[in-house]
Amino acid sequence: MFTLTAGIPSMNEAELRKFGGFIEREFGIKMPATKKSLLESRLFKRVQACGLSSYSGYFDFVTKDPKARDEFLRFVDLVSTHETSFFREERHFNFLRETVLPALCREEGRRAISVLSAACSTGEEAYSLGMLVNAAVQDHRRSDISFTVEGVDLSNRAIAMAQRGVYLAESTEKIPDELRRRYLMVSRDRSKDLCRIVPELRRRMSFHTGNLLGKPELESHRYDIVFCRNVLIYFNQANQRQAVATLLDHMASGGFLFLGHSESIMGFDLPASIVSHAVFRKD
Ligand SMILES: C[S@@+](CC[C@H](N)C(=O)[O-])C[C@H]1O[C@@H](n2cnc3c(N)ncnc32)[C@H](O)[C@@H]1O
Repeated sequence: MFTLTAGIPSMNEAELRKFGGFIEREFGIKMPATKKSLLESRLFKRVQACGLSSYSGYFDFVTKDPKARDEFLRFVDLVSTHETSFFREERHFNFLRETVLPALCREEGRRAISVLSAACSTGEEAYSLGMLVNAAVQDHRRSDISFTVEGVDLSNRAIAMAQRGVYLAESTEKIPDELRRRYLMVSRDRSKDLCRIVPELRRRMSFHTGNLLGKPELESHRYDIVFCRNVLIYFNQANQRQAVATLLDHMASGGFLFLGHSESIMGFDLPASIVSHAVFRKD
């Protein structure tokens, strides 16, 4: 039964422990007591929508009932944070454009550039990468290099949005003008104020769900560039190490791994060395 605080029923200690333990075990996401009101406000509507009368009832339904598959996907979506934007933490994109991509495009025998956006959320990071790689390949006249950008995320809803590649015009403001002209189409319906990524780029992209702490089904074992930003902060140290080790296993040697500006693999004893702020190169 519910006890009300500020309109939203509060979760008792035992319920918080159950949800927190499950979320950290399954997805790696830490749920300390400070996240209690966030969890309550996100889950209460789902408890009601499922016609249940307590958080415990919802926990049992979503974690144990085979009929709850759709609800499980909603739950996953609600307990993770999806904040993202085009060209977020711009310094990494500058490093890519000025240093990494010119070097890859100058390699004579190179035929492919393979990129992964791990924990890609709704796709803005992956499309930012796609724009830069496509522009570099064209500008270096390397039509013999094919490239792919793959995005993976825990959230089904975020992946569906990434696959559509449709964004509010105002959210595209950080895309440099030249790239915006090349890779965005503006909706013909002016009242909608939407943009879509051009088909030429969408064709190079693939998005799918996957858990970085399980065995995500990644398409390559030789990624040249991996972005895994602003997700390790939600993990404990052991899970951070496990997720990065999995990614490094799927990278070409010499490949570049970009983490969020406040994330690091220092002290994890993994086969990669720092080359710039939150950028590592696989040994
Ligand atoms: C804050 S967003 C970061 C998006 C993007 N990388 C960026 O920096 O803008 C974090 C994303 O990590 C995803 N996520 C959380 N735990 C995950 C896991 N175990 N496996 C895959 N994705 C996960 C969430 O669904 C969310 O979309």
